[in-house]
Amino acid sequence: MLELKRLQKTFGKGTVHEQVALAGIDLTLENDDFVTILGSNGAGKSTLFGAIIGTFWPDCGHVVLAGEDITYQPIHRRAQKIGMLFQDPLKGTAPDMTIAENLALAYTRGHRFPLARALQKRDLQTLRDKLAAFGMGLEDRMKVKVGMLSGGQRQAMTLLMATIAKPKLLLLDEHTAALDPATAEKVLAITLQTVREQRLPTMMITHNMKSALALGNRTIMMAHGKVILDVAGETRSAMQVSDLLRHYSGTQGTSLDNDRMLLGS
Ligand SMILES: Nc1ncnc2c1ncn2[C@@H]1O[C@H](COP(=O)(O)OP(=O)(O)OP(=O)(O)O)[C@@H](O)[C@H]1O
Ligand SMILES: [Mg+2]
Repeated sequence: MLELKRLQKTFGKGTVHEQVALAGIDLTLENDDFVTILGSNGAGKSTLFGAIIGTFWPDCGHVVLAGEDITYQPIHRRAQKIGMLFQDPLKGTAPDMTIAENLALAYTRGHRFPLARALQKRDLQTLRDKLAAFGMGLEDRMKVKVGMLSGGQRQAMTLLMATIAKPKLLLLDEHTAALDPATAEKVLAITLQTVREQRLPTMMITHNMKSALALGNRTIMMAHGKVILDVAGETRSAMQVSDLLRHYSGTQGTSLDNDRMLLGS
């Protein structure tokens, strides 16, 4: 379970560039929650994830994961508990290392010993099987440097690396937005399969309102650092994209504007 309590973050405090990114977020994520997150540009969606993975400390408030307060925990310690994928496929993998080496690093992170060790044969087979399940032929390219892979292949790799050590939370920040439509669909399918198999509590930022309502079990909408809509169950099932747009303009007095938003979706 993830609990966010009164989280606040203002960038450039006291300067002309002052930006309130999180204006007091209260949110509880249950273990079986798969939450999709929508919002206009600059709403604070990525900042919310930043506070959870520890790229900065919030001005106030708390991040509690599985009962442990991790608000001020160093980023490398949280990395064992939280898997995250970004929009940029270049983030999350080491380009000069091979697929096998990247996976070995991620795999050993979940174990107790401090140094990465060579993969045992059995572990290697497990990883190959997982890669094979992606249907991208990566299992036969274990000695290829990750820098040689396509964006979609890298995202699939990053997903495996982010989930291999069985994290307590998975955060997806528009992780398919930079891919072509067919590849995006494939990476999304792999994501859904992984989340289902591992029963991972997941938060997914997306600009696609239709899939925000169709995927997962709960949808939140953010504006100006606040959660302005949090729906699940029948209320959510009955909602359409037009309802989301109406809710946004009704509460914000302006229309939802996101430069990656797909028209007609
Ligand atoms: N490191 C930073 N330094 C200064 N301001 C920042 C920083 N990160 C984010 N901001 C500001 O905080 C606000 C929220 O940004 P954030 O990136 O969280 O938005 P977002 O909802 O992810 O938007 P998008 O849909 O464009 O990705 C914005 O006004 C942004 O300019
Ligand atoms: Mg963002």
